[in-house]
Amino acid sequence: MSRGVAAVGNSIQDRKIVLVGMMGSGKSSAGRRLAKALNTAFIDLDQSIETRCGRSIREIFASGGETEFRDLEEAELRRALDAPGSWVIAAGGGIVVREASRALLSRAHDVIWLRADVDVLAERVSRGRDHRPLVDGDPKARLTALLAEREGLYRSVATAVVQVDDCSVNQVVDRIETLISTSSIDHEAATS
Ligand code: S3P
Repeated sequence: MSRGVAAVGNSIQDRKIVLVGMMGSGKSSAGRRLAKALNTAFIDLDQSIETRCGRSIREIFASGGETEFRDLEEAELRRALDAPGSWVIAAGGGIVVREASRALLSRAHDVIWLRADVDVLAERVSRGRDHRPLVDGDPKARLTALLAEREGLYRSVATAVVQVDDCSVNQVVDRIETLISTSSIDHEAATS
């Protein structure tokens, strides 16, 4: 169930939709396409952190460790949620690890958990590990361990879950749009 939606005809106003889920679940690709479909702004928190800091995520982990990265991630999420207008926000996979970031997520209208089997995640992550130092070594084993730690956290913040295993990006976006339009209609009915 989404929170506090302002729906006007087919458009949405001042709505923050955050995509969460493990590395490789497709948050950035789906988020970019969803934002285009909804005609909203888009932000990828990982990219935004790198641009703001002038350092890659790998460099941030190497110099300041995970703690510095989580500080930057929390600050970037806060900025995105505070920005005026409607935004689709693709969060990094570990956004749920820190309690303060989970608390921030409760301010978003929708938190969509893109959920995938670990084999699917491992296959996708193997195609791009540069910004993912936490899966260095044996990616599948690391993903399995991280998923075990995080599954309950994703569940605790999510307003909706989309199982993405066999889905194309377009299918994922269609499912999210359906969830969102349903919750907008619910909201309009509840507030009219
Ligand atoms: C992380 C996921 C990465 C990136 C960083 C940490 C995680 O983002 O934020 O490497 O802890 O799961 P993606 O989920 O976009 O790969």
